[in-house]
Amino acid sequence: MQSSVHNQDNLHVAIIMDGNGRWATTKGLPRTSGHFAGIAALRGVVKAAPGMGVATLSVYAFSSDNWRRPASEVAALMDLFRFYLVRDLTPLVEASVKLVAIGRRDRLSDELAKLIAHAEAVTARGTRLTLRLAIDYSSRDAILGAVAACRPPPTREELAQQLAGNSVPADVDLLIRTGGEKRLSDFLLWEAAYAELYFTDRLWPDFRAHDLALALGDFRARDRRFGGLSTTAGQPTASADHDRASRAPASAP
Ligand code: IPE
Ligand code: IPE
Ligand code: MG
Repeated sequence: MQSSVHNQDNLHVAIIMDGNGRWATTKGLPRTSGHFAGIAALRGVVKAAPGMGVATLSVYAFSSDNWRRPASEVAALMDLFRFYLVRDLTPLVEASVKLVAIGRRDRLSDELAKLIAHAEAVTARGTRLTLRLAIDYSSRDAILGAVAACRPPPTREELAQQLAGNSVPADVDLLIRTGGEKRLSDFLLWEAAYAELYFTDRLWPDFRAHDLALALGDFRARDRRFGGLSTTAGQPTASADHDRASRAPASAP
């Protein structure tokens, strides 16, 4: 069994925060109210995550394909990102959260790009949780960009470092998608190579700390083998940290 000392688990959890629009529509509200309610759900999860053994939380806020949405919805989302970065900056610092944005910045407004850079600088010393906010993010583009930035062609470790940017490279341990869809929608394709996948019908604005605890409970009951054999079937039990540290990259046959 893995450690029950959750705050030493050092997990990387990724969340595809989906279902905001449906949450609003079923209530007869405009889709943007769902996005607004989604911010409250994010706050709850950010607050609860460090106490549940999560060291890194990567959340999908806006995919590069989301530019295809109506301009009014895109504008409302950009407003909300600005609102969050202003309104939540002090609480994030007080909670010792380090905020890092992943994704393209050149298509964001100057104002939003500046707010992101400011939030990253002000929260840089946070140690309790690294919150990676994916805005204008495409995993395929991130991989292409990381490969192009390395010369000669990168090793796995170099590519992982390039993809991690300002955060410590860490494979995703648990990837949660709310909203009932069972797909990755171009999120963290490289980093989630051995992630445990958890899909829930819960719509993102209804997702609470309790739901995160349920997902982590499910995760902790799984047998992660990384291509090897079960550590619970007669072999010495290794801690989760040891498992991660000793995970050998596959070599060519
Ligand atoms: C996720 O919720 C938020 C973003 C993609 C920005 P959606 O807006 O995709 O909500 P649904 O899937 O339409 O319900
Ligand atoms: C993925 O959700 C992106 C975010 C949650 C930000 P989408 O709602 O855009 O994904 P698809 O279109 O259902 O695959
Ligand atoms: Mg959606």
